[in-house]
Amino acid sequence: MFNQNTVSRFQGIETPFYFYNMEVLRQTLAACHSASSKYNFHVHYAMKANFNPRVLEMIQSFGFGADCVSGGEVQAAIEHGFGKDKVVFAGVGKSDREINAALDADIFCFNVESVQELTIINELAQAKNKTAGVAIRINPNVDAHTHHYITTGLDENKFGINTWQLNDVVETLRACKNLQFLGIHFHIGSQITDLEVYRSLCIRINEMQEWFEDRGLKVKILNAGGGLGVDYYNPDTNTVANFEGYFKVFKDFLNVKPGQEVHFELGRALVAQCASLISRVLYVKNGQKKNFLVLDAGMTELMRPMLYQAYHEIENISRQANSPEVEKSEGLKDTIHYDVVGPICESTDCFRKDVELPESFRGDLIAVRTAGAYGEVMASGYNLRNRAESVYSN
Ligand code: LLP
Repeated sequence: MFNQNTVSRFQGIETPFYFYNMEVLRQTLAACHSASSKYNFHVHYAMKANFNPRVLEMIQSFGFGADCVSGGEVQAAIEHGFGKDKVVFAGVGKSDREINAALDADIFCFNVESVQELTIINELAQAKNKTAGVAIRINPNVDAHTHHYITTGLDENKFGINTWQLNDVVETLRACKNLQFLGIHFHIGSQITDLEVYRSLCIRINEMQEWFEDRGLKVKILNAGGGLGVDYYNPDTNTVANFEGYFKVFKDFLNVKPGQEVHFELGRALVAQCASLISRVLYVKNGQKKNFLVLDAGMTELMRPMLYQAYHEIENISRQANSPEVEKSEGLKDTIHYDVVGPICESTDCFRKDVELPESFRGDLIAVRTAGAYGEVMASGYNLRNRAESVYSN
């Protein structure tokens, strides 16, 4: 929901652009901070969800750490003030150059995804006469009940080390003198709204930490990854994710031993609701079978609907600002069903089919909501399009 003043402000800005509501971001971060601190849990923000500088600055100001998946993200985290003792580096394909840069930056921990990667980090650390902190990413084979494109914790996924390889891991850790084993890491998928799934994850984590301890390896860190989902259907009434419920599952079911730290890597839940993609209707095509709203934003600005059939609320905010009475008195139809599409030369460039909207016209402003996570960061230059700007509430 956008008030009249905000919509008037948008009139003067070139579309498409990402609009950041910094107050929504602040409230979300405050809720996560208070729910996690209750149990002394540590949150590393999964920077891949959004690395907009203003967003990073605010997240950092709450004292969260950074979960990075490339050398570029490690560098950005450090540049934006995340302490190096709070930077972790994950990812299934870290290059030697990226590992070397992270070693030079003295980051806290590498989340390691294969036995070969362990030996390479050891070699590179040895060459620098350093010790690298490592956590082993284990594939727990827990089904996250989310879209199969964003499920990561099953045996068939490329991520993590499968349990049948863990004996090799232990031998390698024993042999590698420049590695310090810190703990175990899991991440089973994204946009998870069924908290029961996390209960199953806790049971796997408990089993796995016993397995390592039985072999004489002290597990200091239990890292449960991220994945907490948000409500894409009700961005105004259910804005803040269920942090309380989420952390409570881990409090209740995770077997945390004295001196151990519990880490999380939340991305989407922290940033999804704070941004909308704002675009303008370029053309209205009324057909016999279909009506189309052609926007000036498409899959180049927000790829989620096209890539994962993801749902986003779509609002005509130019009409929303008018009362239904005004619309009626102007002789406008109540609502019309439109396929809301972008300008890109691909049939999949459609935000959603059959969207019920007030009768819409060229020049109307359209908001695609809950676009703060995996929106701006996944933009592309396909069709040689300009990059959408970012606009902030304050
Ligand atoms: N930790 C690891 C190891 C991850 O791979 C991810 C996300 C996260 C943490 C953060 O997950 P989150 O809390 O944001 O769910 N582009 C897709 C989502 C891809 C998620 C990739 N990994 C989307 O737009 O839905």
